[in-house]
Amino acid sequence: MRLLFPLIACLLLLLPRSLSSNYLPSLCHQEERRALMQFKDSFIIKNNSFCEYTEENHPEVASWRMDGNNTNCCVWDGVECNQDTGHVIALNLLRSCLYGSITSNSSLFRLLHLQDLTLVFNDFNHSQIPSEIGNLSSLTYLDLFNSNFSGQIPSEIQYLSKLSSLSLGSLDGYNYLYTKSLTSLVQNLTNLEELALSNINISSTIPESLANLSSLKFLFLDSCGLYGQFPTRIFQLPHLQDLDVRYNKNLTGHLPEFHTNSPLVHLYLGSTNFSGDLPASIGNLNSLTFFDISNCNFSGAIPNSLSNLTQLTLLDLSQNSFNDLSWFTRPSSNAILPQFEMLGLDHLNLTKFPDVLRNQSKLEYLLLRGNNLQGLIPKWMHNVSKDSLQLLYLSNNFLTSFENFPAIIPWPNLKDLLLDNNMMNGSLPIPPPSLQVYVVSNNLFTGRISPFFCNMSSPRELDLSYNHLSGMIHPCFGNLNQTSLSILALRCNNLGGTIPKTWAKGCLLRMLDLSQNQLQGHLPRSLANCTELEYLHVGHNQINDTYPSWLGTLQQLKILVFHSNGFHGAIWSPETNYSFPNLHIIDLSHNHLSGNLPTGYFTQWDAMKSNGVKNLHYLGDWVNYSITMAIKGVELEYKKIHDDLKVIDFSCNRFEGEIPEQVGNLKGLHVLNLSNNAFTGHIPSSFGNLIELESLDLSQNKLFGEIPPELVQLHFLSMFNVSHNGLTGHIPQGQQFGTFENTSFEDNRGLCGRPLSKICGDSNVSPPTFEENQGPRFVFEFGWKVVAMGYGCGFVFGVVIGHIVTTRKPDLVIKIFGKKQRQTRISRVNRRK
Ligand SMILES: *[C@@H]1O[C@H](CO)[C@@H](O)[C@H](O)[C@H]1NC(C)=O
Ligand SMILES: *[C@@H]1O[C@H](CO)[C@@H](O)[C@H](O)[C@H]1NC(C)=O
Ligand SMILES: *[C@@H]1O[C@H](CO)[C@@H](O)[C@H](O)[C@H]1NC(C)=O
Ligand SMILES: *[C@@H]1O[C@H](CO)[C@@H](O)[C@H](O)[C@H]1NC(C)=O
Ligand SMILES: *[C@@H]1O[C@H](CO)[C@@H](O)[C@H](O)[C@H]1NC(C)=O
Ligand SMILES: *[C@@H]1O[C@H](CO)[C@@H](O)[C@H](O)[C@H]1NC(C)=O
Ligand SMILES: *[C@@H]1O[C@H](CO)[C@@H](O)[C@H](O)[C@H]1NC(C)=O
Ligand SMILES: *[C@@H]1O[C@H](CO)[C@@H](O)[C@H](O)[C@H]1NC(C)=O
Ligand SMILES: *[C@@H]1O[C@H](CO)[C@@H](O)[C@H](O)[C@H]1NC(C)=O
Ligand SMILES: *[C@@H]1O[C@H](CO)[C@@H](O)[C@H](O)[C@H]1NC(C)=O
Ligand SMILES: *[C@@H]1O[C@H](CO)[C@@H](O)[C@H](O)[C@H]1NC(C)=O
Ligand SMILES: *[C@@H]1O[C@H](CO)[C@@H](O)[C@H](O)[C@H]1NC(C)=O
Repeated sequence: MRLLFPLIACLLLLLPRSLSSNYLPSLCHQEERRALMQFKDSFIIKNNSFCEYTEENHPEVASWRMDGNNTNCCVWDGVECNQDTGHVIALNLLRSCLYGSITSNSSLFRLLHLQDLTLVFNDFNHSQIPSEIGNLSSLTYLDLFNSNFSGQIPSEIQYLSKLSSLSLGSLDGYNYLYTKSLTSLVQNLTNLEELALSNINISSTIPESLANLSSLKFLFLDSCGLYGQFPTRIFQLPHLQDLDVRYNKNLTGHLPEFHTNSPLVHLYLGSTNFSGDLPASIGNLNSLTFFDISNCNFSGAIPNSLSNLTQLTLLDLSQNSFNDLSWFTRPSSNAILPQFEMLGLDHLNLTKFPDVLRNQSKLEYLLLRGNNLQGLIPKWMHNVSKDSLQLLYLSNNFLTSFENFPAIIPWPNLKDLLLDNNMMNGSLPIPPPSLQVYVVSNNLFTGRISPFFCNMSSPRELDLSYNHLSGMIHPCFGNLNQTSLSILALRCNNLGGTIPKTWAKGCLLRMLDLSQNQLQGHLPRSLANCTELEYLHVGHNQINDTYPSWLGTLQQLKILVFHSNGFHGAIWSPETNYSFPNLHIIDLSHNHLSGNLPTGYFTQWDAMKSNGVKNLHYLGDWVNYSITMAIKGVELEYKKIHDDLKVIDFSCNRFEGEIPEQVGNLKGLHVLNLSNNAFTGHIPSSFGNLIELESLDLSQNKLFGEIPPELVQLHFLSMFNVSHNGLTGHIPQGQQFGTFENTSFEDNRGLCGRPLSKICGDSNVSPPTFEENQGPRFVFEFGWKVVAMGYGCGFVFGVVIGHIVTTRKPDLVIKIFGKKQRQTRISRVNRRK
């Protein structure tokens, strides 16, 4: 809202001009009209995420027609002509839904009088910016922000010597533009007031000559892969208001002495390698409103002069190495402290709630994670920005409780509360209805979950895991707002009773983790209404139910863990013809499931069939799970679940019959555990196709026949166990089989050959061997990590999905504030509409 006011004011000021009666539109030139029409016709009008057009809200080009009384292109939306000459001088197509390429023969380059070209938020389909852009020599304003161009920025831009504003940047990862030299691109653009290259791959140092662009007001070079020393003179440019060089981790630099009357308003240096002291002269930056130096290497003291910056509303000092924090505890008494809206104080080793907070009444966002805060959350804190506070992050401290008790969260408009990884005890603080994110995992909370939780009107994330909560899950939990609730995690408590049953159509739950409790009864069938469900973990409970094949209809389901419950009966092939298309991990171990595995069942598990996708995607871009597996008595942990990891664990059940040959088609499998069942028949030779397999456990079954020699092809196999079966014949030799020990094969009376001492009698049949030309591969190939288990919930078998950390980029908050100048730009464009 704050940002809208100037915008509206600006529009009002301009209205009289456009409405004035003596305003006559000029007539446009025919060849320019033709060029505009050709330009329009070279694109498809397509809805995309930045452009949502409707019946009422057309893209500008919809009004461009040659028919009837509409031929004056000077009155077309987004077009502006010179009053006297009638030439088209401005083209403003912001979010105009244009989709297609701009080619070098585009009629756009015939509009030679263009001074202002704005094509923000269109989709130019990864085409290159044609070098002909250099022909539009009258351009003063060129804005191609976030319009899906790619390739090298044409060097011809350097000839546009009249440019005062050049914006080629994008939001995260939308453009794929790069330039090899910032120097030659901009050094002659001496009239530049704005240079915006956010998210463009520059990968170079910042040339000293940039500091010669003496008109610069706005300089955005965030996420550009910049390195080397930042030219300090840039800070002293006489007109510079906004500087953003965030997310250039290898960019070093230090702050200069600042003089009075510096126009700097926004200074963003976060996530760079800036270091040194904050100079006391920072107190001279009278206009400074946003100051972000989070995640840098600043040290020394925080200067008292910071208190004099009365305009400052955003201050993020998180994650630096300051060694004198007295500014926080003894704010200079004669200064008027700024009234902050956002204060980032993560990871500063603060030992108590800083006194600077005492007089803050406008805070909306307060970050205090990873400090040394101990004991009670003091009473005075409860009145800090009581009505404005929306987000409070207190994770990873040593807090024990709120000072008043019983605790009701004292900020009535709070939306996000993170209190995880503290030592909070007593009963759970009651959330205000406004709260959306309530994360208190890893504390010492006891008692029941109050039904007041059900008063939250749009809860998004509720994580009460790893506490000592007891009692039943109140039935009202089934009535939580299911169109807002995305995460419900109650893992590792002492909760009893049944799982809430009332999951309605439209439920948008993505993650349900009820594991390690004492829940009983059935898995509610209504969960089938939660079509977005990706993660369902009810392991280590006392659920007594038949196998819920209906879950297969949940197309998004990726992780399903049932281990150690009372699931019983056979797995039946569901009536649907499409089941578990997206499943990556299924753990049914330690239940009472029985019967044959239906042969057709696995044929539909598409995700498990794909392999070799070695990209860097992790399951759930919105949340990090880590997974732990007990293999060979060691716990292995994946810090993040790689998109590529596929696991089936059906161990410790009563399955019987043959292992379906089709399991061998699940080529993406990394771990297959069918041990401790009553499977009979042969080991399918199709297992030789499971080329990603790292662990195969078939022990404690009734398998017979030979070990298929095809298994020698499994180069990643590092854990193999077929012990306690009725297998016979030669143990295959070579490759990974050279690394397995006796225990992998023991108690199979008919097996012979290395590593067993029993020599194979039949000398006519030589054992299958392979050349050991590659040497054995190792299990840690995919980032396995042996960890000491620290779970307080008893011994862990099978697959355990470990900690859940919602992906909360530390800079998220800054991003919210970061809309800023972009808004001014858009207002500039809007005023023409
Ligand atoms: C474009 O998308 C928006 C929302 O995504 C939708 O409301 C609108 O009807 C769509 N317009 C057209 C013409 O399809
Ligand atoms: C042309 O303008 C007249 C009067 O302004 C209007 O009535 C008529 O509908 C317009 N014709 C077209 C084709 O837009
Ligand atoms: C977009 O680019 C793709 C790949 O280059 C091409 O196949 C497609 O035709 C292009 N679409 C348009 C509308 O130009
Ligand atoms: C540009 O040239 C290509 C062939 O090189 C042609 O197919 C296309 O129609 C031309 N586009 C325009 C706008 O003239
Ligand atoms: C652009 O300018 C170059 C010379 O500077 C000229 O050769 C070329 O024809 C021009 N292109 C257009 C489309 O006018
Ligand atoms: C930049 O300006 C200098 C001096 O005016 C001139 O010598 C040089 O050729 C120009 N470079 C470009 C790329 O225009
Ligand atoms: C920073 O520099 C190091 C060493 O030169 C390099 O490995 C790393 O990729 C760079 N990081 C970024 C974000 O450019
Ligand atoms: C803050 O400003 C006041 C008045 O302008 C001045 O007396 C004081 O020294 C300043 N404090 C600091 C720490 O710069
Ligand atoms: C944090 O402060 C304590 C004393 O208050 C000190 O012992 C410790 O080294 C500090 N830690 C860091 C990382 O600065
Ligand atoms: C449920 O949440 C949605 C999305 O946040 C919200 O629009 C809706 O008003 C909420 N419903 C109720 C009854 O509060
Ligand atoms: C899904 O929700 C509807 C109400 O929206 C309910 O009637 C239905 O029983 C639910 N489905 C299942 C399988 O329970
Ligand atoms: C599971 O439920 C069935 C009836 O639904 C009951 O007969 C059986 O005893 C229960 N098993 C356990 C272990 O509670």
